Amino acid sequence: MRFLFSPLFFLISILSSFCFFHVVPVHSQCLEDQKILLLQMKDNFVFNPSMSTKLVAWNPSTDCCLWHGVSCNKIGQVIGLDISLEEISDGLQNSTGLFGLRYLQRLNLAWNRFDSIQIPGEFHHLTSLTYLNLSNAGFVGQIPIEVSRMTRLVTLDLSTLFPGFESLKLENPNLKTLVQNLKELRELYLDSVNISAPGRFFPDKIFQVPTLQNLDLSNNELLKGNLPQFPQRGSFRRITLSYTNFSGPMPDSIGNLGMLSRIDLSNCNFSGHLPSTITNLTEIGYLDFSSNNLTGLVPLFSMSKKLTYIDLSRNDLSGSLSSMHFEGLNDLVYMNLGYNSLNGSIPPALFALPSLQILQLSNNQFGGEVNESSSTSSSQLHTLDLSSNLLEGPIPEFFFELRKLNVLVLSSNFFNGTVQMENFQNLQNLTRLELACNRLSINASSSSTSSPFPQLTRLSLASCKLQRFPDLRNQSKMSFLDLSDNQIKGEIPYWIWEVGNGSLSHLNLSYNLLQHLQKPYKIPSLTILDIHSNQLQGDLPIPPPSAIFIDYSGNNFNNSIPADIGNILSVASFFSLSNNSLTGAIPESLCNATSYLQLLDLSNNSLSGTIPNCLLSSQNLGVLNLGRNNLSGAIPNTFSSSCGLRTLDLRRNNLSGQIPGSLVNCKLLEVVTVGNNYIEDIFPCMLKNSSSLRVLVLRSNRFNGDIRCHPAANNSWQNLQIIDIAFNNFSGYLYPKCFLSWRGMMLDNDAQLEHNHLKFKYLNLNNFYYQDTVTVTIKGLELELVKILTVFTSIDFSCNNFEGEIPETVGDLSSLYILNLSHNALTGPIPKSIGNLTQLGSLDLSKNQLTGVIPQELTSLTFLSFLNLSYNRLFGMIPLGSQFQTFEAASYEGNLGLCGFPLDVSCNKIPPTSFEDRLYNSKTKINWDYVSAALGYTVGFGITVWVLWFAL
Ligand SMILES: *[C@@H]1O[C@H](CO)[C@@H](O)[C@H](O)[C@H]1NC(C)=O
Ligand SMILES: *[C@@H]1O[C@H](CO)[C@@H](O)[C@H](O)[C@H]1NC(C)=O
Ligand SMILES: *[C@@H]1O[C@H](CO)[C@@H](O)[C@H](O)[C@H]1NC(C)=O
Ligand SMILES: *[C@@H]1O[C@H](CO)[C@@H](O)[C@H](O)[C@H]1NC(C)=O
Ligand SMILES: *[C@@H]1O[C@H](CO)[C@@H](O)[C@H](O)[C@H]1NC(C)=O
Repeated sequence: MRFLFSPLFFLISILSSFCFFHVVPVHSQCLEDQKILLLQMKDNFVFNPSMSTKLVAWNPSTDCCLWHGVSCNKIGQVIGLDISLEEISDGLQNSTGLFGLRYLQRLNLAWNRFDSIQIPGEFHHLTSLTYLNLSNAGFVGQIPIEVSRMTRLVTLDLSTLFPGFESLKLENPNLKTLVQNLKELRELYLDSVNISAPGRFFPDKIFQVPTLQNLDLSNNELLKGNLPQFPQRGSFRRITLSYTNFSGPMPDSIGNLGMLSRIDLSNCNFSGHLPSTITNLTEIGYLDFSSNNLTGLVPLFSMSKKLTYIDLSRNDLSGSLSSMHFEGLNDLVYMNLGYNSLNGSIPPALFALPSLQILQLSNNQFGGEVNESSSTSSSQLHTLDLSSNLLEGPIPEFFFELRKLNVLVLSSNFFNGTVQMENFQNLQNLTRLELACNRLSINASSSSTSSPFPQLTRLSLASCKLQRFPDLRNQSKMSFLDLSDNQIKGEIPYWIWEVGNGSLSHLNLSYNLLQHLQKPYKIPSLTILDIHSNQLQGDLPIPPPSAIFIDYSGNNFNNSIPADIGNILSVASFFSLSNNSLTGAIPESLCNATSYLQLLDLSNNSLSGTIPNCLLSSQNLGVLNLGRNNLSGAIPNTFSSSCGLRTLDLRRNNLSGQIPGSLVNCKLLEVVTVGNNYIEDIFPCMLKNSSSLRVLVLRSNRFNGDIRCHPAANNSWQNLQIIDIAFNNFSGYLYPKCFLSWRGMMLDNDAQLEHNHLKFKYLNLNNFYYQDTVTVTIKGLELELVKILTVFTSIDFSCNNFEGEIPETVGDLSSLYILNLSHNALTGPIPKSIGNLTQLGSLDLSKNQLTGVIPQELTSLTFLSFLNLSYNRLFGMIPLGSQFQTFEAASYEGNLGLCGFPLDVSCNKIPPTSFEDRLYNSKTKINWDYVSAALGYTVGFGITVWVLWFAL
């Protein structure tokens, strides 16, 4: 009887019972206990039967060795289990079924959906495991110490492609214990595993593990520092360290890895020379060093004929390419050298590589003509991007014969000549054609009715001297169309709105000569609609509700803005109607659009009425430009408590009343211009809260009183660079303290180093930003600064009633470019400290009552191109030196007793006693008219501004 219960009997009986029902196939049959364990495991698992292809089909009445995902050895023990991609979400912990399968050598649980659980320690019961794949299965948290006890592991995959908030951690055990214990390990995949204790262990030892062949430690920003040397005769086949913070040079010892077939060191911080020893990698097939900061020359890739993939893009490689670089690369499929500093011409041999499908050379300095190539008839090329280089001459004919091309991008080069659209007709599979910004004349005149590019989704022909619309009537897949900056006249055809059969989302027709929209038209669900800078007239086209960006500016649209426009702009972020001829009121409905609206520009129209209260209560609006209209009434006191305005431009309207107190809520303000209105108020001290303020223009209003604020804030306005309060009734003293905090006008300000323009960037998209403008008055000339350099500085306090002395502290504003204090009642001497304003280009102190001599220190103002000290009470000799003698006499006239060149008064001849008389005379002669500058100075100024703009 004992015999009956022995395992052997058990085995025999099972075998015989199975033999009864089955024809025994080559493999052995599953042992009953193994089957029971498998079924237990399956019962435990919570999985989605509709997504399962393996578990769901396990039939208890069949041989478990035949079950999908199960493999057995000769005697029916389960040694392999692949239950990946089964959407298992629970039932792994305490799974006596799974952890009882003690013969298991290979286990794959990848791509399941365990809900952020830890890896159970029980895995180490599976002592025979050599292969364990738990990747992308939803495990998080510390990797249990038990994993480091599975000493027979050859392959361990714990990587995650899309890590959630929490990821797997390798702290204790750490990487060191792991690799020290797992002595058989050949493949270790830890993509996105948080490998901490950075710097201490890693990675000195890991490259030395003699068995290790494949290593993936990518996506770990904690990994940093220099890479250690690779061992002599390293056994590595594959190394992936992308998206880590490794930095410093790539070790030359990389050349030791003679067996390497794949290396990915992309998106790290490597710098220095690309090691020349990579030419030792004679087995390499896949090489990705992209997005680092490597310098040096492109290596001769001919070292390995196995190369299929080369990506060195986004580095700082230099030098040129020759055909030797690619000799014999018959298997090369992908090559990306974009975003480097490569120059020279493009070797024709590249186009003859027989397997090459993707060639990316954009954003380099390749130049010269692209030579014709004849051996391209069998070319496999489907992506060719040569954009943003210096290539010239005609587009080579053979491009039109690369029949497999899907993507052809040649924008931003100097290609020239006339190209017929039909030339591209052979490229039937083009999905993307971009020729913008060359010196090409694209001729789209023929009216071919067939659809030339049935697959085209993206067409950019900006700046291609197009005279008319290309016929795109049958383009059913188009989503992006850019025909901007051409010479297309007349009507926008109705069919343009039907291009793409509703798939069009980006349409740019700006900078053409278009006059009308052919009717009837229906604008489809565009996201971006840009028709600015044309000559379009009539009513505003109603934008589609899907539009995020709408630019109608710079046209002749007239009549009023449709009253319900704001109800349509439900997702709009950018809406500009500036520089048109619109009349009527600002529709209140625009307030309904403000949930997403970041920029609203209605400037330079003839809009009248008042500013809707609700418009200012928007929280998202960053730019509100209502300047240059006929708006009247007061500015509503409705700025939201979470006001996010950066630019508020209300200049040149008929606004009256006061600056509303709620403006204090707008703490991010950078530009405030309310000039040329009828605002009657005291100095808007609430703006002192906007420490980001850069531009304040109150010019030509009825402001009055002192410009002092209580309590005096010390650090306020440290970014201020332009303040214009001219033509008001301000009075009182210029307090020394007032200039002290304006660090934006001092040279030590860090911002001085950034040569940025003041602009509002929104949506965080590359090309979408709003350029602030400001009008600066210099020498009576109004100058519209479209690109306000963050280094441009100006103070204009002219035409007020300021009295007292000019404080010496003005000399601290060491980067000041324009200082105008003219037409006030300032007294006392010209501060010597003005001589410290070494950047000063324009100084106007005329029509005051300044006394004393012109300080010799002023001669150190070497950039000064405009000076007006006329009509004061200055006396003595005009200082010699610098350019003081180059200004005209008018700069000095009307003073008590100035003498010397350029005045016609010799310094020997003035008797000091006559000063009093002259004082009397000069007072009666003061002419408060605003004096225009002489033309001669303008040239001088223009040059200096040019220097400021371009040299800085
Ligand atoms: C697994 O077993 C442990 C103790 O061995 C217990 O604490 C835990 O609750 C069990 N988990 C499940 C899911 O049954
Ligand atoms: C790599 O190449 C250099 C010469 O280019 C040679 O000196 C070195 O021994 C090579 N290293 C290996 C491991 O082959
Ligand atoms: C790249 O390296 C150059 C010089 O080695 C350095 O000036 C530059 O800042 C680096 N750029 C980045 C993004 O690290
Ligand atoms: C095109 O450019 C090439 C080289 O830059 C020049 O020699 C040629 O004259 C140009 N052709 C035309 C039509 O402008
Ligand atoms: C164009 O694309 C189609 C579908 O992908 C393919 O069958 C065809 O061979 C391609 N034509 C050329 C010339 O490559």
